Amino acid sequence: MKAVAVWPGKPSSMHLEEIPVPELAEVPGGHGVLVKVLRVGVDGTDKEINDAEYGRAPPGSDFLVIGHESFGQVVRVGRSVSSTIRPGTYVVASVRRPGHSPYDAIGLQDMTTDDEYYERGINLRHGYLTEYYVEDDRFLVPLPPALRDVGVLLEPVSVSQKGLNQAYEIQRRLKIWQPRSVAVLGAGTISLLAAMAARLRGLEVTCYSRRHAPYLNSDLIEELGGRYVSSTESSLAEASAMYGPFDIILEATGFSPLVFEAAEVLAKNGVLVLASVTGGDRKVEFNADTINQGFVLGNKVMVGTVNASRADFLSGVTDLIKAEALFPGWLGKLLTTPVRGLEQYEEMVRHLSENREAIKVYVQVSEG
Ligand code: BGC
Ligand code: ZN
Repeated sequence: MKAVAVWPGKPSSMHLEEIPVPELAEVPGGHGVLVKVLRVGVDGTDKEINDAEYGRAPPGSDFLVIGHESFGQVVRVGRSVSSTIRPGTYVVASVRRPGHSPYDAIGLQDMTTDDEYYERGINLRHGYLTEYYVEDDRFLVPLPPALRDVGVLLEPVSVSQKGLNQAYEIQRRLKIWQPRSVAVLGAGTISLLAAMAARLRGLEVTCYSRRHAPYLNSDLIEELGGRYVSSTESSLAEASAMYGPFDIILEATGFSPLVFEAAEVLAKNGVLVLASVTGGDRKVEFNADTINQGFVLGNKVMVGTVNASRADFLSGVTDLIKAEALFPGWLGKLLTTPVRGLEQYEEMVRHLSENREAIKVYVQVSEG
């Protein structure tokens, strides 16, 4: 079968590989599930992998099959697979696989303290941009048929869910914490999905991003009942004076200097969630005393978040169902840019690097 792969370390090496169809028996204990891939979303991580800035091949392979945002349909199941997963069930597979730390041992490999982490389609494990994959049922999340058209969004949803779920988890320390207002920095897929999740939790949402409104992403924020502020018109401090203070700020722009502006305006007892993987080595000057004092006197928290746990995938499914009910059609509008078939991987790369209007680029691998 065909698979889209790169030779890690070699820039612009995206190509088609011919690989064997995987077998159920590759997963021990009867836990194997054979999944037919229907759609795979791609994002900045895939672009970085193609630019050879990120990503490693599995041991024994000189190529890495990419694709970590999966959506597929079960073909066959092993004898010990959960009864929630049967032939025909729609499933999304999580990305990270356990390593060796105590967190991995309890299913929180997203919290691993290992230096090396295993991520399908990204690091040391092949991904889903192929025709079929086999996976242990414990790494699969079943989706109701009602989510067939938007299920490919579940992986990025899980990443933004983790950001918010972590904020609430941390703030249990405050006993009566009732956030009112959240700022999401950036207006890409993760930010839009975080804005959605925040609205579903009854929060006021301000999306702060570079581009001038109106455009599709700012329209989408307004359709959720949020407001959009362009950084070309207001500084974050001005936005905070008008619409804050922000009890939660979620940073997902990829522009690390904004972290320190956010730290400066965060509300007392607030939590700043950092979600951008910034590969560069940018240096900035910032108001160290002010930020430090604000954090001390205001009992503030700054937390990093990567990947997602199974619980974040499950809360993501619930939010997808709620969003379809409360904001009908909204999720579908994120799926701006379909690419038809694995063979069109060059078109996919072009959209990833040049198409400013694309929100979610995805490959329609099979019609099902
Ligand atoms: C993926 C995450 C992953 C992270 C770091 C993101 O693009 O969505 O699942 O943990 O990259 O590799
Ligand atoms: Zn991703």
